[in-house]
Amino acid sequence: MSEGTGRTSTAPGPGAPRPEAPARRPAPRAAVPTAKGAPEEPVLDLTDVTVVRDGRPLLDEVSWAVGADERWVVLGPNGAGKTTLLQVASGRMHPTRGRAEVLGEELGLVDVFELRPRIGLASAALAERVPAAEKVVDVVLTASYGMVGRWREEYEGPDHERARELLVTLGVGGLEQRTYGTLSEGERKRVQIARALMSDPELVLLDEPAAGLDLGGREDLVRRLAALVADRAAPALVLVTHHVEEIPPGVTHALLLRAGRVVGQGPVDQVLTAEALGEAFGLRLQVERAGGRWSARSAIA
Ligand SMILES: Nc1ncnc2c1ncn2[C@@H]1O[C@H](COP(=O)(O)OP(=O)(O)O)[C@@H](O)[C@H]1O
Ligand SMILES: [Mg+2]
Repeated sequence: MSEGTGRTSTAPGPGAPRPEAPARRPAPRAAVPTAKGAPEEPVLDLTDVTVVRDGRPLLDEVSWAVGADERWVVLGPNGAGKTTLLQVASGRMHPTRGRAEVLGEELGLVDVFELRPRIGLASAALAERVPAAEKVVDVVLTASYGMVGRWREEYEGPDHERARELLVTLGVGGLEQRTYGTLSEGERKRVQIARALMSDPELVLLDEPAAGLDLGGREDLVRRLAALVADRAAPALVLVTHHVEEIPPGVTHALLLRAGRVVGQGPVDQVLTAEALGEAFGLRLQVERAGGRWSARSAIA
């Protein structure tokens, strides 16, 4: 289900030829203007997606489309199914029922090893598998090959340069020769996002990127994410969190999940109401928006 280490994920399986390096788009992506009235194909298109484990639906008939120029936040309490949803969106889990199209390819009909480098993912599960002794620059570089842990690949100069540039952009440029195990939690998060962007993906999925950060770390990360969100040439982005305070300004859409079901989705202003958030979290809430940022607390009766 989850991505293997480099040793296994790049080994061509019998009868399943893998390219030496996964297909990568040749040039850095530019925003493609579409003719007026001709909507671009969604980067994610889920129809009635249900994921059942142990007889229980972790996702329950989720229908959701993400456009190429949209920036989404997915909100919901612990256990709502957010990580499961990103597992499907990244081609790491297939729906038990329903249909999931990712970057125009239907899961189940596509070679996920070709799909994965087109998607940048940062998650706690992936981060846990980074060896502590791995050099920071290699943590980023290995994303080009959809793997964790450097093995025997050769990286070209431009790849190296891109990894360095991304580390600088994320504010951890001075750390590229350090080992991952020596980084603070905040530094690790930024390296993980640099890694998610490395393959010049068409879709970026960030699963709780601010979890475990102190206030300064969170604010720094939100600022950097806001810059990414505002970059029109940047890929479509889906950010998962359970704190509205972590939503970067500029996010365009929101999806609310509760117990595997969608309780709201659409333009962020319409969806992030006290009522809808309250329903998702099972609380009476007061929700405020100021300066492009959100805050929520329980309503005092
Ligand atoms: N492989 C699995 N088998 C059984 N239950 C799972 C599995 N993965 C996740 N779950 C359960 O599914 C629910 C949703 O999990 P998850 O998607 O991680 O939620 P979230 O990310 O919103 O906290 C949780 O109750 C979790 O325990
Ligand atoms: Mg989760």
